[in-house]
Amino acid sequence: MKTDVLIVGSGIAGLSSALHLAESNPDIQVTVLDKSFDQESNTRYAQGGMAAVLTENPDSLGDHIRDTLASGRGFCIPEVVVKVVNLASFRVMDLLRWGVELDKDQKGSLLLGLEGGHSRPRIVHYKDRTGLEIQQKLLTKIKQHHNIKLMRGIFALDLITSRRDEGNQNYCQGVSACNLGYRKVFFIGAKVTILATGGCGQLFDRTTNSTVATGDGLAMAIRGGVKTRDLHFYQIHPTAFFNGRNGKAFLITEALRGAGAHILNHNKERFLFRGDARGELATRDIVTSLIHKEMKHSNMPCVYLDAKHLGREKLLAEFPGVVRYCADQGYDITDELIPVAPAAHYQCGGLETDSKGQSSMDRLFALGECASTGLHGANRLASNSLLEALVFSKNVVETITKNYNGIEIEQQQFQSQSYLQENNQRDNAQKIQSIRFDLKSMMTLWLLSESVTPEKLETFRLKICRWKEIIRLCYQRTIFDPELLELRNLIEVSEAMLIQKNQKKNVEHHPNIHL
Ligand code: FAD
Ligand code: SIN
Repeated sequence: MKTDVLIVGSGIAGLSSALHLAESNPDIQVTVLDKSFDQESNTRYAQGGMAAVLTENPDSLGDHIRDTLASGRGFCIPEVVVKVVNLASFRVMDLLRWGVELDKDQKGSLLLGLEGGHSRPRIVHYKDRTGLEIQQKLLTKIKQHHNIKLMRGIFALDLITSRRDEGNQNYCQGVSACNLGYRKVFFIGAKVTILATGGCGQLFDRTTNSTVATGDGLAMAIRGGVKTRDLHFYQIHPTAFFNGRNGKAFLITEALRGAGAHILNHNKERFLFRGDARGELATRDIVTSLIHKEMKHSNMPCVYLDAKHLGREKLLAEFPGVVRYCADQGYDITDELIPVAPAAHYQCGGLETDSKGQSSMDRLFALGECASTGLHGANRLASNSLLEALVFSKNVVETITKNYNGIEIEQQQFQSQSYLQENNQRDNAQKIQSIRFDLKSMMTLWLLSESVTPEKLETFRLKICRWKEIIRLCYQRTIFDPELLELRNLIEVSEAMLIQKNQKKNVEHHPNIHL
């Protein structure tokens, strides 16, 4: 199979780039792959919203730039921050043009929320389910374009790359993929490939992330020799619902703190002010560190969020998703405290791109959470992720439109090479489960450690080598088990994360270190 532009992933990054492409190039064929059958993504769980300075008074572009840089702790690329912040209001217009509903006041002006690290309210949102609203409206819009083909249940496996005769550079020609429904492997040739596969929160015991967040695009690119950046900067969100269990943890949005909710310890004290004058509205790294410290000090597994004083009416109107989820768990948040604890949340680093979203490999772009554009530095400012995805998807499309029209796809490689493989799925299931469990424990330890000694790192590295070999053998026997495919990728990403942390030796700047 072939296509002009191949997009892997149908979260905000994949869908918005597909729409921009179809709008500006009605004659090209855009194919979007999604391994999930049921619209799983991190995008659909985004609650707080998207940061944007819409008018220069009382907010200012300068303030948003300063807040982003401060949150990134010296690791952002300032020119990228300036560009993204300047384009934010235009990308909000795109959302509205695509039919996305955003909360407005009675006069029709967009309502702006406040979140940690922001010096002013500047988050556009749709109640506490901004991501779902965006994803649904973009999916609806996509159906109106005959030249976008969205294929679900297709798991991208590896990049197809070729080496140019002249020079030493590889370029991307598409991907190999597995049709999870028909159990077939096939090749998709493309003039340009965009990886928009999201993050890797599933590497850790407790995460806010979707089940699809297994670092697939990152792993594919690493195997293909594409450059990565800052993989060791993994962000922990301070407030996810605590129920004593590992796995996917429901996020309790930071916007609730922006609206005035307090974080309390077991003595019902607002302890955050002891560490930072901004209290609940300090940046995520700081709030997380202070909560970890408090939990250690009190020997308790969680702290509490108190939203009672915000009032039933406001809570129901503005945070219906949080109210409903907590009610399902037996908590009436209009009258009771919410137990919360930090959870792995966001991959700040990723595939290194330039300001146009171009990766280090020719004809390969990276967008959204799998990319490292330079915006976030060591610690992403709240609600800058949806913004980054939208700004860069437009940049990528402008570059593609300008540069890739004349390229031909090298036909012979992509004729139907579908085949079935022997299925030994059951033999592998136990191994996969047990390695995934151990990997998560190891990476959680890595994430939460104040520092990792060279000896410890060596132990981690040896474990990874052993797991890699086991998975390589399983993979030779069958590749139709998505759990196996994901584990293969998670292991690849872990290895790269460990190596980067080790190489840079900048642990003293690491945002997850306990204060
Ligand atoms: P995703 O939305 O995760 O989409 C990835 C897509 O790639 C999926 O369709 C997936 O199925 C597909 N995929 C993955 N691997 C493969 C493969 N091998 N083959 C085929 N398809 C594949 N950010 C904000 O700015 N504001 C917020 O309010 C906010 N709230 C958040 C709340 C939660 C609970 C979470 C988890 C994140 C939140 N974030 C927020 C972060 C933000 O939502 C994500 O960073 C962003 O949505 C990522 O978009 P994406 O398109 O890059 O990836
Ligand atoms: C939240 O709503 O707390 C999440 C915002 C984000 O991840 O940017």
